[in-house]
Amino acid sequence: GGRINVAIDGPAGAGKSTVARRVAEQLGYIYIDTGAMYRAVALAANRAGISPGDADRLAELVKTIDIALEPGADGQTVWLGGENVTAAIRTREVTLKVSEIASHEAVRMRLVEMQRKLAASKGVVMDGRDIGTHVLPDAEVKVFLVASVKVRALRRYQELSESELVPIEQLEQEIAERDRSDESRDISPLIRAKDAEVLDSTDLTIDQVVEHILDVCRTKT
Ligand code: C5P
Repeated sequence: GGRINVAIDGPAGAGKSTVARRVAEQLGYIYIDTGAMYRAVALAANRAGISPGDADRLAELVKTIDIALEPGADGQTVWLGGENVTAAIRTREVTLKVSEIASHEAVRMRLVEMQRKLAASKGVVMDGRDIGTHVLPDAEVKVFLVASVKVRALRRYQELSESELVPIEQLEQEIAERDRSDESRDISPLIRAKDAEVLDSTDLTIDQVVEHILDVCRTKT
């Protein structure tokens, strides 16, 4: 059959990126982590001394920003200008600022434009918050991946490096706060698309989630 687009949305830490990467791998598709693009903008803003609330300077910044996602065997490499920022966009400093950065219309318009171009030829698995609702409303498969805050905080905790260790209760609070911020923003908030299937990964393994999505994809190709 023909190639399709797969949209995977959901809150922080629900397992979207791992699942999306594996689904893409199995289908021979390209995986696009849109959160990484917002993180790259947050990193660039931070370095330029632009505060997350400064709409005008952020609008200027995204006019010329050069973000590239390069698929690779062991994950995706993120480039900002000519610099590999794959690790730098994962620090807590960036994580704590990214939601406010992502709430600005100019930032979203610029990144959504890039995301639609990347998906124009189909054969893409894209994860984010607004893919099924806004970026790719015509995606053939839409999944809304959720999990309890406790499980999501635990997963994030296990990803932290030793120098970044913080109490798990604090992570729970930060995740809940980022959910709240992503769900309540005016432009393209985190919300399930009407035609998206809700998948709760709290008590499922990654393999189970991946297999289920692949089954759905097979019915569409
Ligand atoms: O997916 P990840 O947790 O890396 O995303 C970081 C942040 O980027 C999210 O908390 C959200 O504020 C923003 N984001 C977004 N829209 C997307 C993807 C991410 O607003 N499509």
